[in-house]
Amino acid sequence: MTTGKLVVGVTGASGAVYAQRFLRQAARAFEDVYLILSTNAIDVAMTELGVAPNKKAFRTDEWLGESYANIHLLDDKDFFTPPASGSFRHDGMVIVPCSMGTVGRIANGVSDNLMTRCADVCLKEKRPLVVVPREMPWNLIMLRNLTTLAEAGATILPACPAWYTKPKLLEDLADTVVARILQSVGVEQKLQAQWMVED
Ligand SMILES: Cc1cc2nc3c(=O)[nH]c(=O)nc-3n(C[C@H](O)[C@H](O)[C@H](O)COP(=O)(O)O)c2cc1C
Repeated sequence: MTTGKLVVGVTGASGAVYAQRFLRQAARAFEDVYLILSTNAIDVAMTELGVAPNKKAFRTDEWLGESYANIHLLDDKDFFTPPASGSFRHDGMVIVPCSMGTVGRIANGVSDNLMTRCADVCLKEKRPLVVVPREMPWNLIMLRNLTTLAEAGATILPACPAWYTKPKLLEDLADTVVARILQSVGVEQKLQAQWMVED
């Protein structure tokens, strides 16, 4: 049974566009989206998109182009918030994009902020945890950390856009990744057709 609640983490890896486009879809698909932003995520979004969420006066329209009242920004330092506990039921967590620093902290049980704590909770409660790393090349430490996460039950969904759909715009290319993230948390998405399936 789904709860209609999704936790979304955004870190300071490159690919703020993935977070932006995923959040718009997630807000339409889920009743509530609990959002955690790292400080670096904001700096990277400003660098890449020229717009970034303002943590102090949070408004989704500035950053996502539309208002979504069901996106709730959580304080990354506040452990007195529902998804910090396994007792709060939700449908899982997506970290998009996910820095290798955050991958390393989760893989090593360093639950020192709300992002890593919520990921820890997903793994211990056997809930979906979808990690969207963006880095290249991967060193051995990164590969080992990603393997540890996969062994612990996470889905590793790298931000590797697909070209076989012949995307025309950068946004279409980004959506090849966003579509797969949506599918991985059980959303019937319309961004990308299924391979060899007519609409
Ligand atoms: C413009 C920019 C792009 C970055 N891209 C990446 C990246 O693609 N992958 C990555 O792991 N870190 C990247 N970093 C470094 C992370 O932001 C840095 O490791 C940070 O400590 C991550 O912290 P967080 O996981 O708490 O957001 C980038 C930093 C900047 C300023």
